[in-house]
Amino acid sequence: MKMGKIVAVHSYKGGTGKTLFSVNLAATFAKHGKKVCLFDLDFRAPSLFAILKTENAPCWLNDYLNGNCGINKVLVDLSSQLQGNGNFFAALANPSTEAIRDMSAKDRKWEMRALGRLLSLRNTLLSDQKFDYLVFDTSPGLQYSSINAIVAADFVVVATTGDRSDVNGTRRMLRELYNLFEKKTGLVINKVLDPTSKSKKDEMDTRVKDLYQVPMLGLVPCFCEILRAEGNLIFVQDKPNHPFTKILDEMAKKIDANEVN
Ligand SMILES: Nc1ncnc2c1ncn2[C@@H]1O[C@H](COP(=O)(O)OP(=O)(O)OP(=O)(O)O)[C@@H](O)[C@H]1O
Ligand SMILES: [Mg+2]
Repeated sequence: MKMGKIVAVHSYKGGTGKTLFSVNLAATFAKHGKKVCLFDLDFRAPSLFAILKTENAPCWLNDYLNGNCGINKVLVDLSSQLQGNGNFFAALANPSTEAIRDMSAKDRKWEMRALGRLLSLRNTLLSDQKFDYLVFDTSPGLQYSSINAIVAADFVVVATTGDRSDVNGTRRMLRELYNLFEKKTGLVINKVLDPTSKSKKDEMDTRVKDLYQVPMLGLVPCFCEILRAEGNLIFVQDKPNHPFTKILDEMAKKIDANEVN
């Protein structure tokens, strides 16, 4: 049987759409009948708690990484909120001010142990409990917790925009960091302004490959409806026929088929 995969969603700069993509990619996998868990690894500014409007579980993901709690006490089952017969779980970061400050003060030794706990999810969730996908939403940039998420992942979705500082930073990050880990990576260019024709898309594809030296996973236009949804981000669920939903479908299929290379 096919072993499940860990997919991390990362970016150099903030606000590139990581949370939007994590939530909707996880929801898309679940819609396709997969067993999925979405992880909030953005301890700097936890947001899944608010987006998913959930009751909290007995433990936070923070407690699991601290070694105070088993992973099953962290998972919240949200399957009933989703259409289709997939299974959708979430592992939430503690949004309290105290927890955010505590997580930002961890030392390297703690981060090393936390990496061990992330890696052991392979045994507990992928192997034993037969999850198909663990999707990690991360903090932007090169902080330790994000590097841990990248190291633990089988595939990394890197979200970027056309912003000049983002382009340069993303290039440097891919070259100097991702190459080091030899991670399978797909780039998503988000908030593209002009609507794209097929020829424009092909041209972007080539340009992206030249510029970043990694394959392109998707090109996502800027959609006012996404802003209008005001953080109600399970968009693929609410708007099944929207172009954004179709783009996410394609991305999920590519990742599933291991087609990105
Ligand atoms: N393609 C898009 N079209 C319109 N709005 C978008 C698009 N992608 C993202 N946004 C909006 O941009 C904002 C930032 O998105 P999001 O929170 O997903 O980014 P992020 O990378 O997780 O940010 P952070 O680094 O702060 O965690 C949100 O208000 C979101 O709705
Ligand atoms: Mg985010």
